[in-house]
Amino acid sequence: MSTISNDLRTVAQVIPSIPTSDGAGVKLRRSIGSQRGLYLDPFLMLDEFGTDQPGDYIAGFPDHPHRGFETVTYMLDGRMQHRDHLGNVGDLGPGGVQWMTAGRGVIHSEMPLQESGRMRGFQLWINLPGKEKMKPAGYRDIPASGIPSATLPGGGAIKVIAGTAEVGEQRIGGPINSPSQPLSTAPLYFDIELPAGASFEQAIPTGHNAFLYSYEGSVEIAGKRLPGQAALVLDTAGSRVQFTAGAEGARLLLLAGKPLREPVVQYGPFVMNTREEIEQALRDYQSGDFAKAA
Ligand code: FE2
Repeated sequence: MSTISNDLRTVAQVIPSIPTSDGAGVKLRRSIGSQRGLYLDPFLMLDEFGTDQPGDYIAGFPDHPHRGFETVTYMLDGRMQHRDHLGNVGDLGPGGVQWMTAGRGVIHSEMPLQESGRMRGFQLWINLPGKEKMKPAGYRDIPASGIPSATLPGGGAIKVIAGTAEVGEQRIGGPINSPSQPLSTAPLYFDIELPAGASFEQAIPTGHNAFLYSYEGSVEIAGKRLPGQAALVLDTAGSRVQFTAGAEGARLLLLAGKPLREPVVQYGPFVMNTREEIEQALRDYQSGDFAKAA
């Protein structure tokens, strides 16, 4: 006998996170994007970084370019500073979010503001539709105080970075992808903490891609225990997701977005629709026009 409604999504694919390093040697775990072509449209990459060892993060991410997508950095612990060629300087602290639209081009650095202690958080890359890849770069720093949070009726808590969360009868909107400023990929980005056995349920538009990433503890969907530190990709058929924390509780990200269904051609930090556009990005970067163009 099954009590599971067909409207609830199940896990279609598990993408484990793989230890790697990026920037000037920052150690991290990459799930989505860990292999060429391993995308979940519109999500291109999810990195989890978390360490108490300064040697794992101290070299940071010195100046590097991006074109054609958005980068979202969410800090749990520690402090980083962003600087870009447009003159933006932003300090990222615990619970804060940086939402950067690289558009036609950003050259930036992301460097630690600490020499000891824990550094922990996530960087997500979200693709832009072809018609927006060359729009002017944009940048927002949202401190922890700007991220709405709420206690969940069944125990635990939620932070709403993007999209709208259902909390009992309440609807809690995050600072990104609000109804008044919708993004083309309609992203939903929640950070959820659940005590052992507590459940959470949320609407996800049918057809939008969605995944969970538990970074502490584990979750169950439809009674099946799922691995932590892995992207748990949900099927696209249902309109709701429901999950329950395992015996040790769970802290997890829930992400969803509208697929773009466009060709993805990636060369490192450039993500375009065609090889010609990648070659143009490289020419613009090498000639110095990249920074000027923005
Ligand atoms: Fe970057």
